[in-house]
Amino acid sequence: MNILVVGAGGQIGTELIPHLQSLYGEDNVIAADLKKENVDRLGQISRALVLDALDMDNYKKVISEFKIDRIYNLVALLSATGEKSPQIAWQINMGALINSLELAREYNCSVFTPSSIGVFGHSTPHVNTPQDTVMRPNTIYGVCKVSGELLSDYYHTRFGVDTRSVRFPGIISNGALPGGGTTDYAVEVFYEILKDKSYVCPIPQDTYMDMLYMPDALKACTDLMDCDPSRLKHRNSFNVTAMSFSPKEIFAEIKKHVPDAKFQFDPDPVKTEISASWPDSMDDSCAREEWGWNPKWNLESMTKDMLSAISAKLSGK
Ligand code: SER
Repeated sequence: MNILVVGAGGQIGTELIPHLQSLYGEDNVIAADLKKENVDRLGQISRALVLDALDMDNYKKVISEFKIDRIYNLVALLSATGEKSPQIAWQINMGALINSLELAREYNCSVFTPSSIGVFGHSTPHVNTPQDTVMRPNTIYGVCKVSGELLSDYYHTRFGVDTRSVRFPGIISNGALPGGGTTDYAVEVFYEILKDKSYVCPIPQDTYMDMLYMPDALKACTDLMDCDPSRLKHRNSFNVTAMSFSPKEIFAEIKKHVPDAKFQFDPDPVKTEISASWPDSMDDSCAREEWGWNPKWNLESMTKDMLSAISAKLSGK
């Protein structure tokens, strides 16, 4: 199977590439990104090329030349960045998706596009948020993700394209940094504490959000795509979560390992509003039943692993 990852230079793509290579073979994974510097970095571990997913002609050439069977469409501006330029966020997020879906229809590819907790809004039940529930987001990112879920389901029912996706919560990782998301604090804090022993948090201390550690997120990307489609009652998109915590709780966990760490709060108004509209905790039982979702990492084990991986990274090991 030949796999193309578009938007490969971001937080997920950077770690998805080696994960896909280990499962499907090094030469069968192509990394594509808009930015030359990302492509240069990815080129050290994989076949990598510059591609603007909004440029349909070039996108088509890549799909046809490499005989692509599966697309991971990771192109997106995240929630907080999206609020700075909503029209551009719509153009990029939806433009990359419709192009991916169209090419998948023409070249018979399957497509994975991450959805997000951003699909939910204030009117969604916040505790144990069900799989099928009210989705009235108040960010352009969320509007794109709901539209993307609907469009992906439409391409499946109307044209038979094999589209699947998960609603990712915050993803915590120690490879490439996330950028422009509301959940990014849960990654930033590790770098700041290990560098300066102090962190100023942009999210109010008691705001709960769902989170996943990257190894579980990567497994979701491939387990869902590889599962027997006859098991799937849903497609776009599945709730997935592994832990739900507030800033206060993750900081207490970090303090167990770095006792002199100092935390302060200076809530950012945009991120505060977004985080208040998202679930406190999601019900991911459909993912568990339909394709065996079973995350391994929790707050305790993730915190320990992040601290040791980022210490090693910062000391150049
Ligand atoms: N991590 C994303 C964000 O905060 C949510 O999907 O925007």
